Amino acid sequence: MDFTGKTLWITGASSGIGKAVAIEFSYKKAHLILSGRSEEALHKVASVCQNNGSTTWVVPFDLGDEKSVREAAKTVLEKEKIIDGLYHFGGVSQRSFVDETPLSVDRRIFEINFFGTITLTKAVLPIMIKNGGGQIGVTTSIVGKFGISYRSSYSASKQALHGFFESLRAENVKNKILVSMIIPGRIQTNISVNALNKDGDIYNKMDAGQDQGKSVSTTAKIIVKKLQRERKEILVGGSELIMVHIRRFFPRLYYYLSSRIKPL
Ligand SMILES: NC(=O)c1ccc[n+]([C@@H]2O[C@H](COP(=O)([O-])OP(=O)(O)OC[C@H]3O[C@@H](n4cnc5c(N)ncnc54)[C@H](OP(=O)(O)O)[C@@H]3O)[C@@H](O)[C@H]2O)c1
Repeated sequence: MDFTGKTLWITGASSGIGKAVAIEFSYKKAHLILSGRSEEALHKVASVCQNNGSTTWVVPFDLGDEKSVREAAKTVLEKEKIIDGLYHFGGVSQRSFVDETPLSVDRRIFEINFFGTITLTKAVLPIMIKNGGGQIGVTTSIVGKFGISYRSSYSASKQALHGFFESLRAENVKNKILVSMIIPGRIQTNISVNALNKDGDIYNKMDAGQDQGKSVSTTAKIIVKKLQRERKEILVGGSELIMVHIRRFFPRLYYYLSSRIKPL
């Protein structure tokens, strides 16, 4: 995948990993559609990307509101006849135990992380197919590969994305749709600050895990390089990634460790 001059739509572009990836793409002089809720933050990212030689279009929407996602997709697809790449970074984490979390919070996490992501994908996929192909990058998490405490619906929503997009890939190899699952470990962003607590409010604390995580700019460089190489799974992070392999090859060790890992 050569990103030069391509039309790339990035969600979660207002902060963290999505913002850093948008800036990386801007060095390739791509045409960038930047989405998230915060219009002001998106315009700041757009201005950095423009200085690097990209053209940009800020399209804010709320992933947790199906109507807002559909309207954004309609607006974009009326103007853009080609979408070469769709990269999902928009998402929200969780900091609450199963027995204290009302179903409304579980549903909210799924609306944003799962249904918002697939709503946009379903809108864009037909255009990609019509144009002979495209790339879809989907950001999950290492807890999209296994469960840990304090992340029940977050982990479940990310695991659901793996199932959905592996099926989408299988159905669309013939249509030249490339699917890359982006699987971060601990990355230095505000993901814990912005996570939902048991009341559905913002958790508002920086976890040590994120604070000491991989830098977001290095993370973005790794992701873009691996997207360029069309990797089906992109694991990025530090030593915590070992848990993915422990879960797969040593399940009993995972069962033992998962109840003892400090989730913060
Ligand atoms: N950082 C990590 O350690 C880590 C680890 C594993 C996976 N991830 C995943 O990486 C992705 C990016 O997260 P990050 O670490 O960069 O955290 P972040 O800085 O909090 O970024 C989250 C992004 O998602 C957008 N977003 C959140 N809720 C939204 C909504 N309802 N509608 C539209 N956009 C929404 C935010 O934009 P607005 O606030 O402007 O809406 C923001 O741009 C997420 O999918 C996260 O689950 C991160």
